[in-house]
Parts: sequence; C-alpha cells; structure tokens
Amino acid sequence: MRVVDLRSDTLTRPTPAMSQAMAEAEVGDDVFGEDPTVNKLEAMAAERMGKETALFVASGTMGNLVSLLAHCGRGEEIILGSLSHTFFFEQGGSAAVGGIHPRTVANQPDGTLPLAEIEAAIRADNVHFPITRLIVLENTHNLCSGYPLGIDYMRAVGDIARRHDLKIHVDGARFFNAAVALDVPPDQLAAEADSVSFCLSKGLAAPVGSVVCGDRDFIARARRARKVVGGGMRQAGVLAAAGIVALTEMVDRLVDDHVNARKLAEGLAEMPGLSIDLSRIKSNIVFFELTRAGMTVEQLVKMLDNEGARMLPVGVGRIRAVTHYHITAEDIDYTLGVVSRVLKY
Ligand SMILES: Cc1ncc(COP(=O)(O)O)c(C=O)c1O
Repeated sequence: MRVVDLRSDTLTRPTPAMSQAMAEAEVGDDVFGEDPTVNKLEAMAAERMGKETALFVASGTMGNLVSLLAHCGRGEEIILGSLSHTFFFEQGGSAAVGGIHPRTVANQPDGTLPLAEIEAAIRADNVHFPITRLIVLENTHNLCSGYPLGIDYMRAVGDIARRHDLKIHVDGARFFNAAVALDVPPDQLAAEADSVSFCLSKGLAAPVGSVVCGDRDFIARARRARKVVGGGMRQAGVLAAAGIVALTEMVDRLVDDHVNARKLAEGLAEMPGLSIDLSRIKSNIVFFELTRAGMTVEQLVKMLDNEGARMLPVGVGRIRAVTHYHITAEDIDYTLGVVSRVLKY
C-alpha cells in the first residue's frame, strides 16, 4: 500500500548524497576539537547565521537546553511563549537541569509574543523576584501552524532586549523554513538573536543533529554545557557530513514543501466536515480541525492511516500534517483523495 507519512518532517531519511558523504567522512575526536568535518559544519553554520562560531549538538532539545544553560544561571528567569516547544515538549529541562525559572507569555496565533506583554513580564530589581535574563522565541513556530517571525518583529524584540540588558535565544528548529517562507537571508533574520539553534534533522533531512550559533564566549559556555549533559560526541563527523549536505543542498528546496503544504491546505478547505484557516499556512505545517459530528479526531486519523495517509492528532479536535522531502505533489493529491473518501463514511 502507498503510504504518505505527513506526521512530521523529522521522518525524513538521509538523501543518497548524505549517505555517501557519511561513508566517506573524514573524522577525528570532536571532544578534542579535532573532527575536521564537525569543524567544517560549525563554520558553515556560523557563516549562514552571521554569528562568530557554532556548536554541533545531538538534537533540537539539546540545542535549546545548552543555550539556556549558557545564557542563565540558577534562579534566573526566561520569558518564553506559552505554546513554545521549549516550554511544552522539552520536559522543562532548563528548570530540571539548570534551575532556570520559566515565565510564559501567551503566544498569538502568528507565533509572536505581544511586545507589551514581554515588557510587562520583565522583572523589576526587587529582592523578591528572580532576575530576568533571556527572551526565547521560536521561528518557525511549530504549534502556531509553522508561522515565521519576520525581521520587523525581531527588531522590535531586539529593542526591548537592549533596553533591559537581556539576551535573545531563537529556537530555530525550522529556521531555514522561516527564511525561505519570508524570502530573507538567514543571517538577517538571525541578526537580533544572541543565539540561534537550528535542526538539520527536520526538513533538511539529515538523520541526526542540530547546530547552535552565537558569539565565542557564549559557544564556549554552551560547549561546557553540552559536555555535562553527555553530548560530547567523538567521531561525530560521520553525522556532521550529512549536515553539510543538508546545508548546501537542502535549503532552497524547502520552498517545494511550502507549496505542497498550501496545496494540501487548499484541498482540505474544500471538504465539508473540516475547518482550516488558509491565511495561517505559511510554511510546511498544516493544522486543521474536524467539525463533522459523530467522528473523533482519533477515529479520523485511524481511518486515514488504514488507507496510507498518516497524520498526527495534536490537542483537542486538531490534526497536524507536515510536508517534507519525501512528499510529492502527487502524494498530496493521493492524500486529499483519501481524506475525502474517509469523510464520506
Ligand atoms: C520548534 C521545535 N523546537 C525543538 C524541537 C526539538 O527537536 P529534537 O526533536 O531534535 O529534540 C522540535 C522538534 O520537533 C521543534 O519542533
């Protein structure tokens, strides 16, 4: 049976060029700083983000954790979105491991945090309060339909951070999706951020890894944090080799994923029993709601699954579909056919 797996862009498998690069990678001990392939990936990533240097880490979760540990001490506070991945899906790692206190601000549907609310959340100098250190933003925003945060918004948050002597970390798990969706160079989009973590293993299709970018002092602290959480990898060039292919060959094609996501969303919008806001489809993530009476989201997802169209139930009444490297325009037609058949039952 044909299977169109839209549950996540983390399902992407390495491309043939990645497999070859991994087999042929020149390696050394990266904890000694001697893996030439890791060093090359870190230099490329830093250059693409317009930062001094970078650090290869095992995952997006590790990238965010070591960044927060590098920016904040115990008892200090971060301001972050109520729907952010870091708040929702990372086990509260910065609190559990680093004693860092989270202060949430409600995410707007476009993934932003209202500027006035960021400002209101910043602590005054008072012995009762933790010290605010960091603002954490997510770009694109996973739970907010893959919405990209634009340069103007980043500048406005940058102004607040400068006025209050705070740092900005961007969870850019899908940062290149944001840059492609907005048609802006990644370094310009990252300009206001003190640190950006981006994933190689989502839409860019590498099997493993993320990269944190920032200035030298910050990355030195992040490197120490990576070691203590067990992320000092040895001949990691085997993985970094795929990351280099991801950065060189897989960024520009993300636009295809965005086109396919829109095609899927437009098809779903025509189906009775579903509700979708097309104005929110900006990158490769499509959220829609089931409005048809007498069917639950879990039942719908199971029926779709039985016919080879796989999607993810996320929250009450919502389904997520994510386009990626292995999804073609024909796969979208097939999926729409399955959804329309299943909804007629
Ligand atoms: C926005 C965002 N940040 C971070 C992560 C964590 O990445 P990883 O699964 O590599 O730990 C994800 C994963 O889906 C994500 O969507």
